[in-house]
Amino acid sequence: MTATTTANPLDLLDNPFWYRDLPPERDVHSLHDGVYAITGNAAVRAALSHPDILAEHPLKASARAFGPNVLDADGSEHRSFRALLAPALSRGRIAEYQQQLMPDLVDALVDELLGVESSAFYDTYAHRVPYGIVCTILGIDRELESRFHSLTRPLARLLDFPTVESEQTHLNTAELLALIEEQRAERSGDGDSLLEKIERTRERKGITLSDSEVRSTALLFFIAGTETSSAFITSLVYCMGRQMFGMEELADETVRDAFIDETLRMFPPVQTAVRFAVEDVDIAGVTIPRHSAVLTSIAGANRDPRIFAHPDRFDVTRSHKDSMPFAAGAHSCPGMRLAKAEFGVLIDSIAGRCSQVAVTQDSRALESQAFAHPVDFTVRFTTK
Ligand code: HEM
Repeated sequence: MTATTTANPLDLLDNPFWYRDLPPERDVHSLHDGVYAITGNAAVRAALSHPDILAEHPLKASARAFGPNVLDADGSEHRSFRALLAPALSRGRIAEYQQQLMPDLVDALVDELLGVESSAFYDTYAHRVPYGIVCTILGIDRELESRFHSLTRPLARLLDFPTVESEQTHLNTAELLALIEEQRAERSGDGDSLLEKIERTRERKGITLSDSEVRSTALLFFIAGTETSSAFITSLVYCMGRQMFGMEELADETVRDAFIDETLRMFPPVQTAVRFAVEDVDIAGVTIPRHSAVLTSIAGANRDPRIFAHPDRFDVTRSHKDSMPFAAGAHSCPGMRLAKAEFGVLIDSIAGRCSQVAVTQDSRALESQAFAHPVDFTVRFTTK
């Protein structure tokens, strides 16, 4: 069954919890002008995994800004893009990052947080570890981190719906691509620059992607690996600060991992994944006509009361099997294991060195776009 609303999708998505504005008894909603919204857990999974619901669309802002890239490709081209990224995200590599790279970056951040009360956690601290990790993995000079950060943050809006695309986002994209190229020239020979690593993989695996596709892959890896994690670290610290658990409890690995999963369920940084139907498709008994835009609500899927009892309640004991913060289907996040390893190291360090993390002022507001995280709160880190 479908419900038709006259809601303008752009107005609707201004509300962080937009799925709540649609009739809860339906999973598939016809908005207007060939735009469909999908809100139920099983229906979102079915749409994201459906062979005739694709990511590619020439009008997507990300496709326009970055050219052909992993997020906007399908089929064999998409598999080639994924293959370029795979070596940097293998289990073995992640274990190395976890032991050799993450602890120093995390400890440096926690050194700064000890004794601090901040009302600007997201802007001041949340990006440090993700940018440190991704810059190091990709062989970017650490001195350029803050430049990369200021150029990259506005680009996250290009991956959103509704999209924010401006002359500035295009200028930022051009500058980032030039910086990536410059890093390759400066490091030429050591094989450690982002482009060199990806090009080596291209050659080794015989992948037929052009130089500009290789460059957009490098840039996408950078944006996807930094801004999602910065937003999520903000949510993680916020949930720690709401004192759902004491520091001793979080020091237990099982509790810690369930805490990360439950925070990911309640605050998925990517709230909406946008797709396009290339044929008429049936989702939850509703026919979505070909050429429709399909907005899948990851946030709605993660709070579907048929799957998650009392979905707005923070409960680490629940099963997270059906939670979808990293999406589902062909485009599901290849960085999931890296991200989870990063969050585990961060919680261990905070729990080991702080006697308390407390939110001392809270407007309970959520920024829902690019990428979702709590805003306008103050958090205090008390040293052990
Ligand atoms: C909290 C952390 C993260 C979350 C919640 C997250 C979530 C997601 C989601 C939902 C998608 C699918 C988007 C779509 O289908 O439209 C995605 C794609 C992607 N993510 Fe992540 N991500 C995170 C961290 C990372 C990290 C650390 C990396 C790499 C270092 C990464 C790399 C990517 C890439 C390359 C894609 C595109 C995959 C494709 O289109 O096939 N992500 N991510």
